[in-house]
Amino acid sequence: MRCPLLLLLLGPLYTVIQAQQIYVKETLTGIIDQEAILPCTISSDPNIRVSQIMWEKGGNSIAVYSPQHGTHVSEPNRYQLLEPSPSSATLRILSLRAAEEGDYSCEVTLFPAGNRKATTKLAVIAVPQNSAEANSEALANGEEQTVATCRSSNGRPPSRITWQTSLPGNVTTIMTNGTNGTYTVVSRYVMTPTSQADGMPITCNIDHESAAVPIPLRLSVMYPPEVTVEGYDDNWHLKRNGVFLTCSAKGNPHPTSYTWKTADGSSLPPTVRAKDNMLYVDEVDERVNRSFLCEVTNALGSRAYRQDVLVREKPNYSGAGATGGIIGGIIAAIVGIAVVVTVILICRQQRKNQTATDDEDFEGPPAYKPPPPSIKLQMEKQSAEEMPLKSIPPPSESTDGPEMELNGKTPPKYQMTPESQRYSALQDDYVENENPIYNVFPGPVNASPREEEGIVMSPAVYV
Ligand SMILES: *[C@@H]1O[C@H](CO)[C@@H](O)[C@H](O)[C@H]1NC(C)=O
Ligand SMILES: *[C@@H]1O[C@H](CO)[C@@H](O)[C@H](O)[C@H]1NC(C)=O
Ligand SMILES: *[C@@H]1O[C@H](CO)[C@@H](O)[C@H](O)[C@H]1NC(C)=O
Repeated sequence: MRCPLLLLLLGPLYTVIQAQQIYVKETLTGIIDQEAILPCTISSDPNIRVSQIMWEKGGNSIAVYSPQHGTHVSEPNRYQLLEPSPSSATLRILSLRAAEEGDYSCEVTLFPAGNRKATTKLAVIAVPQNSAEANSEALANGEEQTVATCRSSNGRPPSRITWQTSLPGNVTTIMTNGTNGTYTVVSRYVMTPTSQADGMPITCNIDHESAAVPIPLRLSVMYPPEVTVEGYDDNWHLKRNGVFLTCSAKGNPHPTSYTWKTADGSSLPPTVRAKDNMLYVDEVDERVNRSFLCEVTNALGSRAYRQDVLVREKPNYSGAGATGGIIGGIIAAIVGIAVVVTVILICRQQRKNQTATDDEDFEGPPAYKPPPPSIKLQMEKQSAEEMPLKSIPPPSESTDGPEMELNGKTPPKYQMTPESQRYSALQDDYVENENPIYNVFPGPVNASPREEEGIVMSPAVYV
């Protein structure tokens, strides 16, 4: 016998038949190809005798137990009675098939009370195999197409599939019946994809008796490059230098090449340097007064962005230029104040030192202009007596000068601004650009080394 507490807990699931009690499970769920155990127990009563216990389904006897005649099972390779006795006859179904779903009755013949029966409703389920994938071939071409497919195979009962996404679309679901009572459900999310849908999340929710399975996906939508150009501030004036245009592009697959052109088809003016997605202008002149195209290519094609450039005779002080001027003025003012404060502080400190060490020499106000702070700092290190007031050694330019000429091609370090370093590097790259090997052998789509260079370069330019 089972633990009475367990019976108490399972109480609602058991059917109680009149005075004589027959206990079965009201409902039972078995898994296809696995065994199922259907208990049937009879409460003992010394005044009543159990003469037979029979399991039957749909009017057909499956297994019979009689204390007098023993056990008889219709198909012993499918059914068994586990340790039958006048108080219990548990039916075991060895390997469940979908067809074995249904109502199983445990019918007990009592003497002298007659027949009593209780019924178990057996459900047979199959755990489906679930999968989902985004359609990597989806194309932003204005046509409706499947962007994601979700599949729940060989489940019983059939799975219910729903989709969760912020993107508007329609769902088409197809169910096919398997031979063994299982179902395969395939659901497709259909929409007209745009480039904005690329990379967006979508979740397929598969709901089944065995489990609820969410499968998150990211859409993949192929689209030709979407190009923008930045860097033109409407203040390109004659003689301005160090300006550049930056071409940015998105695309799926990843863009593989950036090409700069003039809008009228003429060759690029010699004052500009094209380097991948960057267009550098050494010094603005009339030849830059034109429209430029940045053409970007990926596997789906090429798209261009047109940037009109207006070269001005004089700087434009309205708009961005004026803002820059104001900011520049504020910075200049702050720097100026800082310098003045530093000079005053150093003067005071120096005066203290002087009065402390030698009063006689520096009593009167010396008739010289205080040298710049950097030189003053050097002077402080020397003792007050040795301090040369006017014979400050000239800056090192005079000694470096001849050396610079002798060295010829290698200029001194302090002249090598980041700008000029970049351009000397550019000279080499520009030659490479004229003979573009990469056009013949396009590099890996995701990590185009040329674009990485372009990204690395831009911060250096801002310095
Ligand atoms: C869904 O299908 C209907 C009928 O085919 C269509 O009119 C509608 O545009 C579709 N909606 C989306 C978001 O694709
Ligand atoms: C598939 O199964 C469903 C539900 O059991 C049933 O209604 C339908 O007739 C079956 N279809 C085929 C083709 O067997
Ligand atoms: C650039 O071209 C515009 C007309 O397209 C003209 O008005 C302007 O003066 C030109 N700038 C220079 C510096 O030549």
